[in-house]
Amino acid sequence: MDFIKFVRIVILCSSLCESSKILVTPVDAGYNSRLKNMIQIGKLLMNAGHEVTLLFSDQLEVDALYKLAETNTMNKTFNVIHYKKPPVDPSKDMDTLNQDWLKGMMKKNGVDALEYISSVFDVIISYPLEDDIVWKRISTANFDLIVSDENVYYSRIVAASFDVPLILYSNWGPMTFGANLVQRFNLALVPAFVEPYSDALSFSERVYNVWQYYKLLRVNENIFSKSIGLCRQHGYGEACDNIKDAEKTVSLIFMNRNDVLHYPLPLMPHVISLEGFFLETPKSLGHQYKDIIERAGKNGIIVVSFGSMFRKLWPELRTIFAKAFAAMPQTVIWSYEGPTPEGIGKNTYVSKWIPQESLLNHPATKVFVTQCGASSSFQALHYAVPVVGVPFFWDQPYYCQKLTERVKAGQTVHLEGITSEKLKRAMEEVIKNKTYKENAAKAAAIYHDQPIPPKDKVVYWAEYVIRHKGAPHLRSQGANALNFFQYFLLDITALVAAIIVAMAIILIIIVKKSISIFSRNFKKNKRD
Ligand SMILES: *[C@@H]1O[C@H](CO)[C@@H](O)[C@H](O)[C@H]1NC(C)=O
Ligand SMILES: *[C@@H]1O[C@H](CO)[C@@H](O)[C@H](O)[C@H]1NC(C)=O
Repeated sequence: MDFIKFVRIVILCSSLCESSKILVTPVDAGYNSRLKNMIQIGKLLMNAGHEVTLLFSDQLEVDALYKLAETNTMNKTFNVIHYKKPPVDPSKDMDTLNQDWLKGMMKKNGVDALEYISSVFDVIISYPLEDDIVWKRISTANFDLIVSDENVYYSRIVAASFDVPLILYSNWGPMTFGANLVQRFNLALVPAFVEPYSDALSFSERVYNVWQYYKLLRVNENIFSKSIGLCRQHGYGEACDNIKDAEKTVSLIFMNRNDVLHYPLPLMPHVISLEGFFLETPKSLGHQYKDIIERAGKNGIIVVSFGSMFRKLWPELRTIFAKAFAAMPQTVIWSYEGPTPEGIGKNTYVSKWIPQESLLNHPATKVFVTQCGASSSFQALHYAVPVVGVPFFWDQPYYCQKLTERVKAGQTVHLEGITSEKLKRAMEEVIKNKTYKENAAKAAAIYHDQPIPPKDKVVYWAEYVIRHKGAPHLRSQGANALNFFQYFLLDITALVAAIIVAMAIILIIIVKKSISIFSRNFKKNKRD
């Protein structure tokens, strides 16, 4: 252990030296960066001396990507509680291994996509509910804290049943699935969901934003009532209501957010921005990659990754990408799995697993071609790499907008109407025009200027909740108690409107009366 690490542990220990028991519940729909980030939270808490238990399905253990990425971390360190889940069928399950399902998702945006996958919530909740052994193990464990992905409603039941403080994690930043989990103060500048808007919304954008908000509320309502129904069927009683009420009972919201990347917005004090806590210290590159970079010479390299879900691509798309890469003078390293794409160039190396952070950290990297996932976007920010964003769905257009419009560190090429030529031109422009690299460097400098290292922030706030057995003082109870009319001040607007109308009526009566008195007097005068 090096000295600094030792000092840090001593400092952390001075506030809380006994180890606490923490349950961490990620969304398990195959291995992806969202799940990885939850495991990372678990690791940070474990390194701070706590006893961490992870809850996920037994199927994850046979997930190829999971095994590749996590075996070393899992075996020696965590307690794991598995719930039983049937093997994934990539031809029909709603799973990231199912390409048709992914393509279906891509046709929809925002709230429609959420509605499309809403039955996933039943699936996520029903497997652990059906597994009695899981409940028994949890009930005897006496957890001091639960840290859960926002979408795992099972943890909300556990929290309510055993009165354990709950922290919910939002991987997407401010766009929680629950419209009221992180309240949208206010829809004139805060996106209701994943729309790729800036904070200066036009009239039509605001109309759409408000419309999305109400749709989101409705979709939330349906999902909650189905999940609560399932929960009650399994006999968990009143605790089931916490599925909906968690927005009022939660201790903290851990939000994957940072002020450089995201637009400023008003948040309650129980919402903690975690500033890309999951970024790793890049290891030095292996010989294979060092050789590739050396051979690339002064042209440098292009790093390409579309995230864990889009490593495999359908034929037309992979050909478009391959041809665009082949036309570049740089060497291209592409995280890709599947048949060799048609038209692939001699300059392109494909591998199903690339040391992404180490490559982005290398000065030879000229541009990062990315889907703009939440994690990749933080990586681009942290390593000051300009990007060409190719968003597929969900939060990806939103994050591409952040990188290319807010940070101005690259260009976005939309999949609709994409051609090799368009992609090639974007890459050339981002490499040639130094403005993008300069903007990336400026943003990185601000990003690195933080009072607490992000990893310590996670540990500090988790221990804060443990020490005080919850954090209700950070939530606005008043804001929770408001109804629709009060929240939007419609009652006040109605009052003002009523007063104005009343005054107008009085005024009209007075004027009418005056006129009639005046004209009567006038006529009388004339007669006299
Ligand atoms: C980790 O544990 C699994 C079973 O839980 C086992 O199959 C695997 O070999 C172990 N890996 C290492 C690196 O010890
Ligand atoms: C470089 O890009 C910036 C931002 O898009 C643009 O304003 C500028 O005109 C470009 N410069 C050149 C030389 O094309």
